[in-house]
Amino acid sequence: MDDPIIRLQGIAKQFGTFVALRDISFDIGRGEFFSLLGASGCGKTTLLRILAGIEQPSKGDLTIDGKSMAGVPANRRPTNMVFQSYAIFPHLTVRENIGYGLVYQNLSKAEAAARTEEAIELVKLTGLSDRSAHQLSGGQRQRVALARALVCRPKVLLLDEPLSALDKKLREEMQQELRSLQRTVGITFVFVTHDQEEALTLSDRIAVMSGGKVLQIDTPQGLYERPNCLEVAGFVGTMNLFPATVSGADGSCAVANGTSIGELRGRLNDRPVTAGDAIYMAVRPEKIAIDAAPHKAGPNCAAGRIASVSYLGDRSHYLVDVAGLEEPVAVYRTNLARQGLPETAGTEVTLSWDETSAMVLPR
Ligand SMILES: Nc1ncnc2c1ncn2[C@@H]1O[C@H](COP(=O)(O)OP(=O)(O)OP(=O)(O)O)[C@@H](O)[C@H]1O
Ligand SMILES: [Mg+2]
Repeated sequence: MDDPIIRLQGIAKQFGTFVALRDISFDIGRGEFFSLLGASGCGKTTLLRILAGIEQPSKGDLTIDGKSMAGVPANRRPTNMVFQSYAIFPHLTVRENIGYGLVYQNLSKAEAAARTEEAIELVKLTGLSDRSAHQLSGGQRQRVALARALVCRPKVLLLDEPLSALDKKLREEMQQELRSLQRTVGITFVFVTHDQEEALTLSDRIAVMSGGKVLQIDTPQGLYERPNCLEVAGFVGTMNLFPATVSGADGSCAVANGTSIGELRGRLNDRPVTAGDAIYMAVRPEKIAIDAAPHKAGPNCAAGRIASVSYLGDRSHYLVDVAGLEEPVAVYRTNLARQGLPETAGTEVTLSWDETSAMVLPR
């Protein structure tokens, strides 16, 4: 990447003998909404704290805005952090809390006041600025924490699961606001979450982490459509995995056999295979068609029996038992119209999918 705002090169972090981060190297672009996604304990907060300068890496180099951050303390970095527990002062008003972000900034009183008002407006707290922080809702408190970080106009805003304390509806509202706020101010956001849907909705790019390592960095679409390993495939969305053995390749398509459901075909994803390789053919649930029609011969086709149906209003989720497969196949269907498929367990169905909707993953 030319001129990234953040460059991590071989960053590692050890706490005693415990390795929390190993060999992390990637760039974050200017103005990007970049997310760190991974299960609890995978090292997200540790990485964010290293970016902020609250924690020092055991190894590796960190550059922010073209400058090495070695020996640069937190308060001299062009970053600001919004913590998981939003840590605002309950006895101060909204305005005082937000203005507090500027106390070390050597601004004139008038300028500090003007910037504070601007930040209040940005997070839509106008009218509440004289309220004491303990009289605010969770979402409003979250806005105060955001404004207090934004008021300093950092080049990079580091957000550690800022929405995790909010209920679903408020969370979705705040997600939209956060995204439009980020577009308005043009600041680079590094956003930590363990919620894959949140990461997919908000991010330009996502780094999926596990056990202190980065597994894949890609756009939301790239991660979902072209996961590079089983772990990423399972972490971002649901994936059906059909164990199979490669019998050959046909252009960009792998042909596999050795399954109880006959021949399977799927995209190679730039991953060369040779005959005899043990693989999974991986298919997302929404890419599988479910029909009452009788079983057709041909690749990527299986006969099964509905094990369960969950009706979710706009869509239905099916689990379908297929002879010879250990796990039932998950199928999502949009409820566009009632297409005459009985929504009852025990119904015999045919599953089928396009070869471009299946992909090869190493087994
Ligand atoms: N100061 C410390 N001393 C020892 N171990 C630590 C320290 N800080 C973090 N760890 C360990 O490092 C690992 C990564 O912690 P981290 O807080 O980065 O995880 P996380 O991905 O943010 O998890 P969560 O989603 O639960 O917040 C964990 O196993 C944690 O116990
Ligand atoms: Mg954390």
